[in-house]
Formats: sequence, structure tokens, C-alpha cells
Amino acid sequence: MNYSRKTGKLISTNFERYFMDWYKVALESEFFDNTRKVVQVAGRKVLVLRFKHEYLAVDNACPHLRFPLEQGTVTDDCGIICPFHHSAFDLRTGDVKEWSPWPPGLGRILGAISREKALKVYATKVEDGYVWVNPDFL
Ligand code: FES
Repeated sequence: MNYSRKTGKLISTNFERYFMDWYKVALESEFFDNTRKVVQVAGRKVLVLRFKHEYLAVDNACPHLRFPLEQGTVTDDCGIICPFHHSAFDLRTGDVKEWSPWPPGLGRILGAISREKALKVYATKVEDGYVWVNPDFL
């Protein structure tokens, strides 16, 4: 059995997961380290990245004010920093590392507009030469 790290709810067994909706989003050969693509998965804009040979998929909308994350800075510790108010998130778990610190002073006020919440992350796999994303929130 698999349980969500965020909610503690049962996701599925591995057997069930095989039959859940996976979306083929790109050829694996299109990706090099630090390649990023925004793809549509089940009506959502999902940012897919390759980070040190690992494929990661997250919502392309920053949880702070929903601005796009695709131009964000990927950090060596597998994080992403939003280009707008510099909120930072763990790309594997979606955990908030920092919430709206930019610009100095004003960033804290902007941070209070929207309460702190994690970035949505999605399961990925590589199969048959393609990168796949499962839109079920982990
Ligand atoms: S929209 Fe990303 S930090 Fe504000």
C-alpha cells in the first residue's frame, strides 16, 4: 500500500497504480539535465523537469499567487525558487522552503495575502522511451 506523504491517505497499491491514468508527456530523448517543459495533463499545466537524471513534475502555478514557475531557478538541493516573490519549494515533496521573501519588506506583506501552502507534485515514470506523468496529487 502507498500512502500520501502529505495527507496520509491511501493512494493505491502498486498493482492499482499501474492501471491509473498516466499521461505520456514527452520523449525521454528530448530531456537533458535542467531541461524543463510545460505540458497539459488532465487540464492542468504541469512543469516537468529533469534534475540530475531524475524526472520531476510539479504544478506550473506557484501556490503563492498562481504565477507561472517555469522560469524559476532550480537549486542544487532540488528546489525551485519562484521568479516573482522568491518563494522556494522542494521539487520532490512540494514542501515550502521559504514563503514570499521578495521584495524585502513588501514580500512579507504579499506573503500574508495568501497563506503558506505546498507546491503540488506529481508522480513520473520513464517507460517505452517516454516520460509519463500521473496527475493524481501525491
Ligand atoms: S507568485 Fe510565486 S512567490 Fe509569489
